[in-house]
Amino acid sequence: MAGERAELGVIGGSGLYALLDDVAEVAVGTPYGPPSDSVFVGEVGGRRVAFLPRHGRGHGIPPHRINYRANLWALHALGVRQVLGPCAVGGLRPEYGPGTLLVPDQFVDRTAARAQTFYDGAPLPDGSVPGVVHAPMADPYCPAGRAAVLDAARGAAWEPVDGGTLVVIEGPRFSTRAESRWFSANGWSTVGMTGHPEAVLARELGLCYTSLNLVTDLDAGVESGAGVTHAEVLEVFGRNVDRLRTVLFKALEALPATRTCPCRHALDGFTPGLPGVPGE
Ligand code: ADE
Repeated sequence: MAGERAELGVIGGSGLYALLDDVAEVAVGTPYGPPSDSVFVGEVGGRRVAFLPRHGRGHGIPPHRINYRANLWALHALGVRQVLGPCAVGGLRPEYGPGTLLVPDQFVDRTAARAQTFYDGAPLPDGSVPGVVHAPMADPYCPAGRAAVLDAARGAAWEPVDGGTLVVIEGPRFSTRAESRWFSANGWSTVGMTGHPEAVLARELGLCYTSLNLVTDLDAGVESGAGVTHAEVLEVFGRNVDRLRTVLFKALEALPATRTCPCRHALDGFTPGLPGVPGE
């Protein structure tokens, strides 16, 4: 539907293919090609929210084939300025078992072949060339978004783990035991396939981005069993999806109407910004 706008966005992962009732379905084109699906725009507590299923509504797109640039661009083009990114992950410590909600404050990129910047030197279809940018990434997630999610989880009686490092692997295979043991030995907390490059692309657009990690399994290096399966991931996610939705709704209502966090200033001092992206 033309003219739809939203201020907040959610990119739903495995097992979260719809979030809102009473939505307008918006097909958004981008210079990077189509996003994973239409964007579904609705309301939560008086706030306009855009929901995008990361893998497409039928879960047809594997993690390494997701058009992350198109997804972030589409949300930004609709007016979204704060994004929540829930995803299914494996736990890398015995105490982070299935059903744990962890709100990471760091990530490690172990992906191999993903377009992770809008500033890759190539001209956009309109002929303009975005300049060279090195986005600051020391603290990849929005402090205000993290606080809203942590409070929301506590309010929903789901005590979250506050902080930790999400390691993002290329997938679509799961990790070997040796890889997984190495991740845990490094002190990393969770392992997933989709957390990167969303946070980076969000930052390049001046968006706030908060990652929510729903642990669906203990990763292969932590448990002694046969290792994780996709069916197990979906089954555990399904069992937790209602309370995840509750946390997302509470957090969306609590996100600040006016941003005072540093996220929007991440690229101050670099280029005038990307051509063709409506600003704030
Ligand atoms: N997503 C859910 N569980 C996972 C795991 N153990 N490794 C990578 N991605 C996952």
